[in-house]
Amino acid sequence: MLLKIAVLAGDGIGPEVTDQAVQVLETVASRFQHQLQVSKYAVGGAGLQAENDPLPAQTLQGCLAAQAVLLGAVGSPAFDHVPGPLRPEAGLLRLRRELGVFANLRPAVCFPSLEDCSPLRPENIRGTDIMIVRELLGGLYFGQPRSTQGEAGQREAVDTMRYSEPEIERIARVAFELARGRRRKVTSIDKANVLDCSRLWREVTVRVAKDYPEVQLNHMYVDSAAMILVARPADFDVLLTENMFGDILSDQAGGLIGSLGLLASASVGGRVALYEPVHGSAPDIAGKGIANPLGTILSTAMLLRHSFHLEKEAAAIESAVAAVLQAGNRTRDLVASGQPFLSTSEMGGKVREALARKI
Ligand code: IPM
Ligand code: MG
Repeated sequence: MLLKIAVLAGDGIGPEVTDQAVQVLETVASRFQHQLQVSKYAVGGAGLQAENDPLPAQTLQGCLAAQAVLLGAVGSPAFDHVPGPLRPEAGLLRLRRELGVFANLRPAVCFPSLEDCSPLRPENIRGTDIMIVRELLGGLYFGQPRSTQGEAGQREAVDTMRYSEPEIERIARVAFELARGRRRKVTSIDKANVLDCSRLWREVTVRVAKDYPEVQLNHMYVDSAAMILVARPADFDVLLTENMFGDILSDQAGGLIGSLGLLASASVGGRVALYEPVHGSAPDIAGKGIANPLGTILSTAMLLRHSFHLEKEAAAIESAVAAVLQAGNRTRDLVASGQPFLSTSEMGGKVREALARKI
């Protein structure tokens, strides 16, 4: 099969981790006899530097012409002071919107060999296997109006949270469909005791649930969900939520399973799907060769599964990662300070070796 993939390395540790992930894809392609065609484009701060645009037209065209997009990370302190639409992050948001990827899937699974990396006691993190379904194109991230106005010292800023019934319904359906193939539990997170958006959210999810009688739906306020996620993470199966709550809770889930560096994501439902690790550009460790590439490598497994229906290939990457961790290999984020660890490329190399050995 020909695999046409647009790779947007982006900023900070983005280039280091995507480089390892692309090499893993090359190994998979040669083992399973696929032809990999990678085209690289600039995004975020890299796009600003090259084209003065965090999402250059060429990048968007390249993504739309590809069968899947793999992105590293965006965000750079060099551009912290530029106006909103010219921030690196604005490029990523525009890309998500242009691709139409409204459903962001963020699995948070506790690897048995990493139980000790969690800040929780092993018996509390054990068995955690959550699929976060985050709405990606609505809410506070995109709602209009938004502005900052007024005289210095007296300025006012406005952001708008807005959701329509069809927007809620389509993301709820994604969550219920996924739950069917899992433990058949959807926990919908909202703030229905305060927000109109959340009350509408709850109403629509209840309505959608009627089409999935085999799936159990329960609701939780986001504050309570943040607490239960720390107290009993293994209770969650599919966690359905709006854009901003999903952004926050998915980082929390990363912390719980040992490192945000392990989390992969798939953004689907649009013209071309987008795959990216959940972590950001981590400017503090960029260029040092110590970032964890596993979140991006696991994102390539999601890419092969969702965009190409290559289940065997996806599973091969996932078992290679599990085997490498089981064998005790760790990047810096997974060890106590002072303990030895592997570099980004050494970790990527271990995964490729495991893949080649057909573990
Ligand atoms: C994420 C990131 C992005 C988001 C930023 C970089 C815009 O935090 O993918 O979780 O908030 O969606
Ligand atoms: Mg985030």
